[in-house]
Amino acid sequence: MGGEVRKHPTIICRCNDVTIEDVERAIEEGYQDIESLRKRLRIGMGPCQGRTCIPLLVRILARKLGKKPNEIPLPTVRPPIVPIPLKLFLKSKEPGVEGE
Ligand code: FES
Repeated sequence: MGGEVRKHPTIICRCNDVTIEDVERAIEEGYQDIESLRKRLRIGMGPCQGRTCIPLLVRILARKLGKKPNEIPLPTVRPPIVPIPLKLFLKSKEPGVEGE
C-alpha cells in the first residue's frame, strides 16, 4: 500500500462499488494491467462502461507501478459506448415486424 491510511473507502467505480483499496490490493496480488484488473474487480463493466473509472484506474495503476499514465495500455473498447434504447433495434422494414 502507499502508506496512506484512509478513514473511509474511496469509491472509484460507482457502478460496481470498487474502491481504491480494492484496486491497490488487486495490483499487489499481481493483477498489473487494465484487462486483468477489469476481470478481477469488474471495474469498468457497469452501465457507464468505465467512462469515469477507467481513467482513474489508469492513474492508480501507473502510480503503483511507477509509470506514467500514458505508458499504461488502455482496454479494448467494445461499442456501444452509450446506452441505446432497445426500440431502435425493433424498427424494421420487414413486413410483419413492427417497431415504433
Ligand atoms: S463507474 Fe465504473 S463502470 Fe461505471
